[in-house]
Amino acid sequence: MNQSRISSRNVALRDFARLAEIDRNALWHPYTQMSEYGKQDPIIIERGEGPYLYDVRRRRFLDAFGSMWCNVWGHNHPEIVKAIQQQASQLCHASLFSVSHFPAVELANKLVETVREDYRFADAPTTLNHVFFSDNGSTAVEVAMKMALQYHNQTGQINRTQFLAFTEGYHGDTFGSMAVSSIEVFRRKFAPSLFSVHSAPYPMQVDPDERPGNWRSIDRQVEATLAGLSDRLAAVVIEPVIQGAAGMRPLCEDFLTRLRKYCNEFGILMIADEVFTGFCRTGPVVASSTELVEPDILCLGKGLTGGELPMGVTMASDKVFAAFSGEWAEMKHFLHGHTFSGNPLCCAAASRNLDLIVEHKLKENVKSRSREFAQQLKAKVATHPRVGAIRQRGLAIGVPIKDAKGNEDRGYAGRADANAVCARALEKSRVIFRPLGNIITIVPPLNLESEHITEIVSALADGLQALQA
Ligand SMILES: Cc1ncc(COP(=O)(O)O)c(C=O)c1O
Repeated sequence: MNQSRISSRNVALRDFARLAEIDRNALWHPYTQMSEYGKQDPIIIERGEGPYLYDVRRRRFLDAFGSMWCNVWGHNHPEIVKAIQQQASQLCHASLFSVSHFPAVELANKLVETVREDYRFADAPTTLNHVFFSDNGSTAVEVAMKMALQYHNQTGQINRTQFLAFTEGYHGDTFGSMAVSSIEVFRRKFAPSLFSVHSAPYPMQVDPDERPGNWRSIDRQVEATLAGLSDRLAAVVIEPVIQGAAGMRPLCEDFLTRLRKYCNEFGILMIADEVFTGFCRTGPVVASSTELVEPDILCLGKGLTGGELPMGVTMASDKVFAAFSGEWAEMKHFLHGHTFSGNPLCCAAASRNLDLIVEHKLKENVKSRSREFAQQLKAKVATHPRVGAIRQRGLAIGVPIKDAKGNEDRGYAGRADANAVCARALEKSRVIFRPLGNIITIVPPLNLESEHITEIVSALADGLQALQA
């Protein structure tokens, strides 16, 4: 046996130094400055249970960051684990390129029905009846973009080859999804290699009861931009209800409805990127259904499997799907696929997740827990002189840290302050937050209890002591 190999299970405390050394040197963490990371002892997680993660040094952490915003039920929900285990005992993988399998068929059916249920008050049943699987959120967006391009190509609209996306939007880290993203710090170094994309302002509305004063002028600007590009645009790509990676920027009420109207008017497809907002993060399974707006193409990921396994989904309307129908020889079939598209283990996890959402009335739970969060944040955090206007839709929350002069629009220039707050919360309270620039995000598991909300908010309130008033 190779003595230098470290078992991933139940690592004894005496192995920690070796484990940490390998972690620093061999493991390249995403979006992490490795030389800074290496200065501290890493948190090496051994197991998860509910909202808590436990590390190899027997410490317990509350995961207020939802393991990169995907966690729905806390970690290792026994029902999802059981579904994965049962599936693993039968079939771990068979490729949808040439065959089909029960978990994929079952999940496709459940997804269509779940989406339909969200839109039950709409004038007509939703037509999002077609499910294309991929591996993550970025690929779900790539798939949507290719679908839109191929759709126009095959419906005689060959000049519709361009996209419009919204300021501060984030849609992933692959090249197509980066092109439609606009967070400057993430894309700057790749910008020369990205194709150009049209941009329109994303009207932010922090207070759910009050539209911003500039709402009408943004609305007119978007309409004029779409009208001007109407012969060239394949699709618009938008994060409905709230932009996540931009620092939790809630979307102005009714904007999605207006956008849908303009897309219909100008023959442009609407792609809703609900990789973050999907699966009840803001309440409904599909956030766009809040305004009963049905996109032509819907992207889902993150919470799809309850956040337990990686998977992406792109759902298409009947209209889009129909454009791909023909003889093999016409080459109209969708020219995209991944080896692990619709992997049975992921499908089994996602299927169980969809059942649990109904069984545990998750939509209602998110509503009541988000009210509790708002109340506690108002009482314990919002009053701090360095805290700006808290942004919240459901259990997607952003707490801006202002500079000493009261400026809250600081972006990555304010990162050090937000980092200091998060570092103190981690050290003193063992609650994991991750800042985005000067915004501290709270994206917890969706089934959390009151005591967890108190734990998170108290940790943040204490963390704020790292700042000078
Ligand atoms: C709205 C949105 N789209 C796409 C993505 C990319 O998802 P993934 O990280 O799974 O590729 C994210 C990730 O945060 C996201 O928030």
